[in-house]
Amino acid sequence: MLSPISWKENTVRILRQTKLPDQEIWVDIESIEQLAEAIRILDVRGAPAIGVAAAFGIAMVAHKHATSDKQELITIAEQASKLLASTRPTAVNLFWALDRMEKKLNEVRDQDASMIRSALLKEAQAIQEQDIQACLDIGKYGAELLPEAGNVLTHCNAGALATGGYGTALGVIRSAIEQGKDIRVLANETRPLLQGARLTTWELQKDDIPVTLVCDNASGALMRQGKIQACVVGADRIAANGDVVNKIGTYTVAVCARRHGIPFYVAAPTSTIDISLSSGEEIPIEQRAGAEITHPRGVCIAPDGTQTINQAFDLTPATLISAIVTERGVAKHPDMPNQLLEFCRIET
Ligand code: MRU
Repeated sequence: MLSPISWKENTVRILRQTKLPDQEIWVDIESIEQLAEAIRILDVRGAPAIGVAAAFGIAMVAHKHATSDKQELITIAEQASKLLASTRPTAVNLFWALDRMEKKLNEVRDQDASMIRSALLKEAQAIQEQDIQACLDIGKYGAELLPEAGNVLTHCNAGALATGGYGTALGVIRSAIEQGKDIRVLANETRPLLQGARLTTWELQKDDIPVTLVCDNASGALMRQGKIQACVVGADRIAANGDVVNKIGTYTVAVCARRHGIPFYVAAPTSTIDISLSSGEEIPIEQRAGAEITHPRGVCIAPDGTQTINQAFDLTPATLISAIVTERGVAKHPDMPNQLLEFCRIET
């Protein structure tokens, strides 16, 4: 199974996703600053993957810092956590994973430095293993919702590359195909950073899953022509009422899907649910540099000085979502908020 992040001799090994699909470059991250930069520029991306990388980052600083003074070790880990928390604001998995690491640190703070180091590494590994298992379970629940045959549209990349491994939205598709369903994927290109064109196609082709790339602005027309039977996307943060924030363009897909009576599914682990927020309006939306729009892949496509709006994510209201698929079950209307709350309460 493809996993974009792993632990290797006190470093965090990542696949540089900004280089895909032309180059497959793996890099061993040696410092917390390097990891923070990798998250900022989207070398590591996708909500669950950012959380996994951050957890390994905390374990890495603890391992790299050769001290037997545990207070010093704790301070270093806390500083690293602050830095990582400042990288990207929207995906709650980042803060969820950092919180888990902080709790673990508090639990073992009276032990000696080497015990603290190994407890932090074990916790990061557990976060990754649990995320992979969550994706497999999401896949099983979600596969039931897909038709026996048809085209499924996805937006951005919510695959193995965006998680500990296997994927959420793409996990649902993988699982449906493993069950024998005849599913073909339509991948929205996902302007401006082209996660659909560069990443979803790349990882599905590796698995021989049929995938066709479409322009973001073609999906409405394809729905009208009856060429899309279902939509499945991931999420960066889900509010308690079932509102979903995901990659910019998701809302447009959901509106078109509703107009054409096509089911629109969101697949995400419970670590993506932010039960503290009553509505999606409270979710912070990352604003990114305009150059990502005016200079895709470094090529200038707009006159110098052109103004831009580059919101990295958008909000899809719960009313447009047919179901939210988590590792603990499927939340549907009219009871979606209660079901989400229930899933978050289940102890693992
Ligand atoms: O900016 P990105 O590439 O990190 O955005 C990723 C997405 O929007 C994904 O759909 C989301 O994180 C879910 S990944 C399983």
